Amino acid sequence: MTTMLEPGQAGAASGGSAVKRIGIIGTGIMGADHARLLTGAVSGASVGGVFDVDADRAGGVAARSGGARVFADPHTLIDDDDIDAVLIASSDATHEEYVLACVSAGKPVLCEKPLAPSAGACARILEAEAAHGSRLITVGFMRRFDPGYTALKAMLDDGAVGAPLMIHHVHRNPAAVPGLPGSALITNSAVHELDITRWLFGEEIVEVAVHTPRPSTRAGGTRDPQLLVLTTESGILADVEIFVNARYGYEVRCELVAEEGTVTLDAPPPTSLRRGGLHARELPADWRPRFAEAYRLELQDWVDGTHRGASAWDGFAATFVAEACVAALDSGERRTVRLPDRAPPVSA
Ligand SMILES: NC(=O)c1ccc[n+]([C@@H]2O[C@H](COP(=O)([O-])OP(=O)(O)OC[C@H]3O[C@@H](n4cnc5c(N)ncnc54)[C@H](O)[C@@H]3O)[C@@H](O)[C@H]2O)c1
Repeated sequence: MTTMLEPGQAGAASGGSAVKRIGIIGTGIMGADHARLLTGAVSGASVGGVFDVDADRAGGVAARSGGARVFADPHTLIDDDDIDAVLIASSDATHEEYVLACVSAGKPVLCEKPLAPSAGACARILEAEAAHGSRLITVGFMRRFDPGYTALKAMLDDGAVGAPLMIHHVHRNPAAVPGLPGSALITNSAVHELDITRWLFGEEIVEVAVHTPRPSTRAGGTRDPQLLVLTTESGILADVEIFVNARYGYEVRCELVAEEGTVTLDAPPPTSLRRGGLHARELPADWRPRFAEAYRLELQDWVDGTHRGASAWDGFAATFVAEACVAALDSGERRTVRLPDRAPPVSA
């Protein structure tokens, strides 16, 4: 079965070249950023081809990616012998079709989060990968590679602060498009905290509730902010403040509370300014500078075929829990989360 090529292994159609030629579908903000990293910051990879329904956008990214080919059709890109693996960074609704096509072509695929917008679509993808028989899918939950989160997890796993009890997450963006449905705060933004909570504790989320204060007058009608309260299998509580019109900048931080101490993940950078009675630290305008290193490490890991990134099951579980959170938001009631029995994991 085809899996991601191991480091140093030649691409099947590369005539002996060790460089993996990545096809990128969707060359908007994320696709362009991934193309830049694959071209200049990740070893052993090049951008072999791109596709976007906006051909001009695809052409611009191709020109900045060492002359990658611009494909007129996404399925031709996926099936092309000169494309070793595919990165999907098109809009959420397109993910299922493209991931399924990659699985059917037997090509490794890194799909930006979410794996698909509905748990049903994610389940179809899981089934297709299981039928293929070996792991092809990685989901772009890049926080698993963020040095801050990995240090936090190492402290937790080493028992530095004892058994975990709670975690407080904060996730703020300066502004969102007016009229965004409240559910989008969960499915687009808080889904990162759903995944990182599962990953940190190695446990599933079994109950969710969503509380909303009066909406911010700056939120253009969106139910913003929101407070998600998640309970894991062993009874750890995770709260997630998600506030996408927080005005002042982009910020992600958290504090783990355990029996022997706490671990705080603060917003980088470590450099701060003290002047005129203020102690200030610059905040980015969006997520890209904050998670730049995480994206680079995620891509390098994927290209190396190490398979430490989120699996199709992780993508399914995050979307499944997100759906329960949306139901909790809509109903105002707590929801029990009953994930189906985990399918046997496909081998790497
Ligand atoms: N991991 C993260 O931190 C992170 C951050 C932001 C966005 N995302 C995800 O990345 C994906 C892209 O987000 P973005 O912010 O770059 O959005 P974007 O709108 O900037 O880019 C999406 C691109 O997809 C293209 N597109 C639309 N329909 C298409 C189709 N049928 N086939 C091919 N291309 C198509 C659009 O023309 C556009 O260029 C989304 O799934 C989003 O949820 C992940």
